Amino acid sequence: MSPEKRNPEKVLGELEHIPVARLRKIIREQIREHPNFVLIGETGSGKTTCLPPLLLELRDELGLTGKIGVTQPRRVATRSVTTRVSDMMGCDVGGSVGYHVRFEDFTSDSTDITFMTDGILLRKIQFDPFLSEFSIIMIDEAHERSLNIDLCLGLLIDVNNTRIGTGMEPLRLVITSATIERNKFAEYIGLEDKDNSTEIPGKMFPVKVFYEPEIPWRYDYMKAAADKVEYLLENHLDGDVLIFMPGKKEINTTVEYLKALTNRTKLDILPLHAELSPEEQDRIFLPSKNRKVIVSTNIAETSVTIDGIVHVIDSGLIKQTSFDPKTGIEQLILVEHALSGLDQRKGRAGRTAPGYCYRLFTEDSLRRRKKFPSPEIERSNLSQVVLAMKKVGIEDIEKFNFIDPPNRGAIHQAIKNLTLLGALDGRGKITKIGEFMVDLGIDPRLGRMVIEATRPDSYCLNKICTIASFLDGKNIFIRPEEITQEREAKRLHERYKKEKDSDFMVILNIWNAYVKSGYDSDWAKANYLNEKTLEEARKVRLELLDVLKNHHLSVDDSLKHKVNEDSLGKAITAGLITNLMKYSGRSCYRKLDNTKEDIHIHPGSIYFRQNLGPQAILVSDEIFINTHGKAYASNCLLVKPEWIRELAPHLMGQILSRPSRKNVFRRHR
Ligand code: CDP
Ligand code: MG
Repeated sequence: MSPEKRNPEKVLGELEHIPVARLRKIIREQIREHPNFVLIGETGSGKTTCLPPLLLELRDELGLTGKIGVTQPRRVATRSVTTRVSDMMGCDVGGSVGYHVRFEDFTSDSTDITFMTDGILLRKIQFDPFLSEFSIIMIDEAHERSLNIDLCLGLLIDVNNTRIGTGMEPLRLVITSATIERNKFAEYIGLEDKDNSTEIPGKMFPVKVFYEPEIPWRYDYMKAAADKVEYLLENHLDGDVLIFMPGKKEINTTVEYLKALTNRTKLDILPLHAELSPEEQDRIFLPSKNRKVIVSTNIAETSVTIDGIVHVIDSGLIKQTSFDPKTGIEQLILVEHALSGLDQRKGRAGRTAPGYCYRLFTEDSLRRRKKFPSPEIERSNLSQVVLAMKKVGIEDIEKFNFIDPPNRGAIHQAIKNLTLLGALDGRGKITKIGEFMVDLGIDPRLGRMVIEATRPDSYCLNKICTIASFLDGKNIFIRPEEITQEREAKRLHERYKKEKDSDFMVILNIWNAYVKSGYDSDWAKANYLNEKTLEEARKVRLELLDVLKNHHLSVDDSLKHKVNEDSLGKAITAGLITNLMKYSGRSCYRKLDNTKEDIHIHPGSIYFRQNLGPQAILVSDEIFINTHGKAYASNCLLVKPEWIRELAPHLMGQILSRPSRKNVFRRHR
């Protein structure tokens, strides 16, 4: 039986201890006056959970009929916030309050408030430039400045112009954040009058902050985090603990240290990162008899309230992508987190009781840290952004009103790559291929692969859909740290690497075994394969098949006929053509576009240490620079020159030219 639906005024009336609820009348008046509004409130002030019901009340008062859309930066936050708000409102998830993340749409005709990731909003804008489903859009956690948030903000202004142009009710826009640059945002969304933004006071409970007095030589901050937990245990300082680490690897190491603590029997040690399954992620919210110690990436940094967290332990570090438009290579780097992020992390304590935050760095380091993280758009590959913009008819990307304009070099690189992929024509207009790529909803390069495989006589569409859906996700192979397990994992993985033709065949071998196991996650675990990647790949594959169906295409033919091997290679090459590499001597390769980066074959590839000959040409799905500054190509395929002749004849000159001696002998770093 559905619980009884409650009215927002009553719901908020019972939450007087939360600032947004307490100040609801004033805030409602302000938003009523100002169709575009910025709300700044400290963490815990009720922006995420109390503002949507307040907006619902306002919507009804104004007689608007569209939904209220609220974006969240991540899937975990989207789900947990929906549960909280639907509980408050006394409705089932998917009733008046629902959520929409990739692969999961829990909304219905009766939904008033849709929580969604910013990626979903972006997709909605691309397919409905009026965004007619919605009356109000709330961009939550705008300070995160993800690529999608920046793009959505710009596009929403355009959506509004389109709506006004056709006499539609304008979309109301509410931007919220804990630590936003208030005036910058207010001006950006076209507010002359800075009064269109407000700050609400009040964290719920005080959080006391401690720093390290100094950092020793060869500091192991993961060990330091575990030591801090031991200190809490020894001094009987009760309450659950949330530890922030920069990435999965550091989380796993910290977990190992925690497991080695003598008192650990009374602990529930729970890792939290994006590569875990939703069930594993949701374990952090379950009540436990033991003391919970959650070790998380920054996915717990915003919008997530975990009851009982009293202590936050913060490494102060974050992993950030950085993209070099000159080489087109992306790199994941470890950086000191910005002050705004540290503040958010601190705020995870003191949500339900007074809290403590132990910073594993010196107070002095605050002086050299940035105030806000640099916006993602300034350090990303922009292919998907540019394609999304072209899809909604924005022709001059450089003139687009971004809140912080991206690097021009990165825009040019994206346009060049999209043109090479056939998504844009010579004049920069989106082509049929480009439109099809947007429909497919995966990285343009992977989309291109699928489109190439739709040629009637290639019979490889089924296989390419599998490959593309795997490349869309994270790594398949799990490489345990522990040495005997690591050997066992390596032995098991070798079974899929028998054929020496390409890493993409390895993916197909794994997929076939996974299908044979009946999509069994236990089978995946036993074989040291990432069950989450497999599960997601399966979902992406189904999504692709659906899109193909809408285009009156199916994989049936490719199931009936023997695949034309050349066509499989050609389709992969067509997609990865922007990562075409030529042998340059000493086991290294170089991209064709004159960049001087020596690229090594990754040890995970079946081509690792194989002599492919001096004329070898490869494509790879990913070229990245590791923490030691060495460039690697991960999944590779040996390319036949005739494929290039057919796919991109203008590149033949570079393919046939011999590497200069300088190139051959120049060593990188
Ligand atoms: O978004 P913001 O940080 O401003 O606050 P919020 O996430 O809306 O949370 C407001 C308050 O609601 C928190 O301080 C918690 O006390 C409470 N809350 C909770 O108890 N349980 C949740 N799942 C979410 C929020
Ligand atoms: Mg929030």
